[in-house]
Amino acid sequence: MCLPSGSTPAGIYAEMSRSVGAGLVSFARASVFVLDEFGGLGPDDPGRTRNTLQHQLLDHVDLPPTAFHYLDPEDADLPRHCTRYDALIGAAVDLMLLGIGLNGHLGMNEPGSPPDSPTRRVELHETTIQSSAKYFAHQNLPRWGVTVGLGTILASKEVWLLANGPAKARIVQQTVEGPIGSANPASLLRRHRNCSVLVDADAGALLSVAGSV
Ligand code: GLP
Repeated sequence: MCLPSGSTPAGIYAEMSRSVGAGLVSFARASVFVLDEFGGLGPDDPGRTRNTLQHQLLDHVDLPPTAFHYLDPEDADLPRHCTRYDALIGAAVDLMLLGIGLNGHLGMNEPGSPPDSPTRRVELHETTIQSSAKYFAHQNLPRWGVTVGLGTILASKEVWLLANGPAKARIVQQTVEGPIGSANPASLLRRHRNCSVLVDADAGALLSVAGSV
């Protein structure tokens, strides 16, 4: 599976951790790939995707350490690092878990990202940079990162797109009911044959089906 950080999936990771602790499920035969990683930060920065996932999930489940794969933005040969990451993922992950950015970004695939894009270095949009302040205890906000591409996301066997809170209501409505295109990367998921959009009442409030959510 491929997993994001961000605030949105924290509840799912807590539930996964609880389920493993209760002996209901096991990660012993799973492989986990991080979805993206911020660049220009120290390796121990708690806001990095790898470290967030470590604290929220991996410290609490039985995933073998060698089955945790992460992106290293400081790799001296970043293009090669990205190519190897895609090769390790292979044809498709079984489950792609996604949050959604306020501008529809998936991972760090900002608006305009090609639908067949591979894992690569990307520059973050100003709104994404400002939104990331909540992950960091300092002002040195990352301006770039490395992300799994839309090509890998769209090739996944199953996708769960998660959104919660009122701030996501507008982009959720545009994603589900607006035009499909690279201007809103999340809208491309409507062409996926096995994608579920999971929202709370606040994030789904502007959907035309909101009365039945
Ligand atoms: C961040 C991450 C994404 C995340 C999204 C939403 O920039 N790169 O992977 O899904 O934006 O974040 P949050 O869940 O904190 O709202």
